[in-house]
Amino acid sequence: LRVFSGTANPALAQEVACYLGLDLGSMKIKRFADGEIYVQVGESIRGCDVFLIQPTTPPVNDNMMELLIMIDACKRASARSITAVLPYFGYARADRKTQGREAIAAKLSANIITEAGADRVLAMDLHSGQCVGYFDIPVDHVYGDSVILDYLSSKRISSGDLVVVSPDVGGVARARAFAKKLNDAPLAIVDKRRSAHNVSEVMNLIGDVRGKVAVLVDDMIDTAGTITNAAKVLHLEGAREVYACCTHAVFSPPAVERLSSGVFQEVIVANTIPVPPSHQFPELTVLSVA
Ligand code: R5P
Repeated sequence: LRVFSGTANPALAQEVACYLGLDLGSMKIKRFADGEIYVQVGESIRGCDVFLIQPTTPPVNDNMMELLIMIDACKRASARSITAVLPYFGYARADRKTQGREAIAAKLSANIITEAGADRVLAMDLHSGQCVGYFDIPVDHVYGDSVILDYLSSKRISSGDLVVVSPDVGGVARARAFAKKLNDAPLAIVDKRRSAHNVSEVMNLIGDVRGKVAVLVDDMIDTAGTITNAAKVLHLEGAREVYACCTHAVFSPPAVERLSSGVFQEVIVANTIPVPPSHQFPELTVLSVA
């Protein structure tokens, strides 16, 4: 078994290797002056089961291409099996056509990862269940919520005070599963409508949050429009405190400004995407899913 890291999240890969009691394998990855990517496996992997840890984080296209070239290098080096480990799968939100003549980039991404030579995928908190079916190879789909739930439980919030909130209708199944693991906490739903990509407008709250500690659950925070607008509604509806629990910290601008504007007691994310110091703020907690 050999574990290699791409350049997208080497810190997480290093933690995974430590957890397994292994050294990360040697792999040379370089960018040419024109942006092209060079990959060379630095050791023999003939007959080995190879795991490539490369979340397709922003810059998504670059990290995706790097993953494909890593897979190709391992295939040509006669690995026995290649598992693409995708703690974050970019393009996962492009998982369906919502208007005519749109692409389904999640399916296309799955196709090219398979075509490059991956035998298996290990992914965390895919945006939607159908993404699993987009790969014509086995997918192990794991969830970051156990780490987040352990952390939340350590806060000893009385279960009678808690309400789990989905920030949009699409996330209800995820929030319901989370609530179930919190002693069947009650659920509320924010009815979010989008007027344009990356612009979220909150319309309605379904459920009761008055006097409660509201825990917003989502797969990712991108520009933070969704989660911040939802938090504002929860405060207007009388929530005592609002926590955000989201696996993937995409944090595109102006996410940091929104998240640190005082609406959240705490913002809890996983380290599937590296959070640089410039994106950290006092209310942020980053948990390891290594
Ligand atoms: C949408 O369905 C996702 O689950 C997230 O709620 C969304 O992508 C977050 O994006 P933003 O932070 O830009 O509102």
